Amino acid sequence: MPDGYNAPAASIVEEVLMGLSQPQKTLPAKFFYDAEGCRLFGKITRLPEYYVTRTEQALLQQVAPELPRMPGCALVEYGASDESKAMMLLDHIGASAYVPVDIADSALQDLTQRLHTARPSLSVHPVAADFLRPLALPHQTSSQQRFGFFPGSTIGNLDHATAHRFLVQVRETLGANARFLVGADLRKDSSILIPAYDDAQGVTAAFNLNLLSHLNREIGTDFELENFSHRAVWNDSEGRIEMHLVCAHRQTVSVGGTTIVFDGGETIHTENSYKHTVPQLRSMAERAGWRSEKVWTDPAELFSIHLLAADDVVN
Ligand code: AVI
Repeated sequence: MPDGYNAPAASIVEEVLMGLSQPQKTLPAKFFYDAEGCRLFGKITRLPEYYVTRTEQALLQQVAPELPRMPGCALVEYGASDESKAMMLLDHIGASAYVPVDIADSALQDLTQRLHTARPSLSVHPVAADFLRPLALPHQTSSQQRFGFFPGSTIGNLDHATAHRFLVQVRETLGANARFLVGADLRKDSSILIPAYDDAQGVTAAFNLNLLSHLNREIGTDFELENFSHRAVWNDSEGRIEMHLVCAHRQTVSVGGTTIVFDGGETIHTENSYKHTVPQLRSMAERAGWRSEKVWTDPAELFSIHLLAADDVVN
C-alpha cells in the first residue's frame, strides 16, 4: 500500500492543491487506498483482464523452489498487506524471521496474529512505515542475512528517479550478502494493457473515481463524481499505462477554501504503471548497486521476477 494516506489533513490539502495547480493536473496515487480503495483493488486482482496478480502467483510457484537457500535469514517484504506471497518463499529460502513492511498498521497487526497461529516457530517483526523513506530494520534481525521481497509490480508505480532511490535504499537497508526478489510487469501490446486498466465491469473505473470520494470525505473537497470519467492511456514513449479522470464540462471544485477551475475534457492524471522490459529493469537494478542473478518470465512473457544480489554475495 502506498505511503502517507493517513497523513494529517493540512498536509493532504497542500499536496492536493499542489497537484491540481500543475498545467497537467495530478493527484497522488496513494489516495486510492482508503478501505473502499483496498476493497476495489482486491477486486481488480481477480478480474479476467487483470493478468498481473495471477501470472505473478503462478510464476512464484515455479520460482520458489529454485531460489538460493539462505538458512536462518530474515525475509523482508516491502508493501506487505498480507502474507500470502511470503508464505510461498519462507521454507524454500530457509527463513527463520519475517519482516513485513507496510504503512497500514492494522493490516500488519492482523497478518502478525495469523502467522503467530499458523507458524508459531517463525519470528515475525512487523514494521509500520513508508518503505520509500529510509528504514531501520528490527534489531532482532541485525545478525541475520536479509532476503528482500517486492512483489506485485509495485515498482511499476514508481517513476524512474523514485525507483532508483528505492533500489539504492533497499541495498543499504538489507546490508551485506543480501538478496532481493522483485516482481515486475513486462512491456507488452496495448491491446492487453488497456483492458487490464479499463475492464468491462468498470471496477478499475470505480477504483479511480474512489480517489475523489476519498478526498471529499477526508478533506472536504466537493468533487461531483458524475462529472468525471475514467480513462486508461498507453504512453508508448514513456513505457507506461496512465490513469486519468476526465472532466465532462467546465466546473469548479473547492479544495481547502481554494477554488480550482476544470475545463471540459481536461484530465487529472492519477497513476502511472510503468512496464519494464527485462533489460530495462536489470540495468535499473545494476545502476542502483545490485547484481542481476537470475530472471524468470512466464511462458506468455507477461510478467518477470528478478533475483538480485548484493555484490558481496558468493554464488
Ligand atoms: C498496485 N499496482 C501494481 C497496480 C498496477 O497494476 O499498477 C495498481 C493498479 N491500478 C489500476 N489497476 C491496478
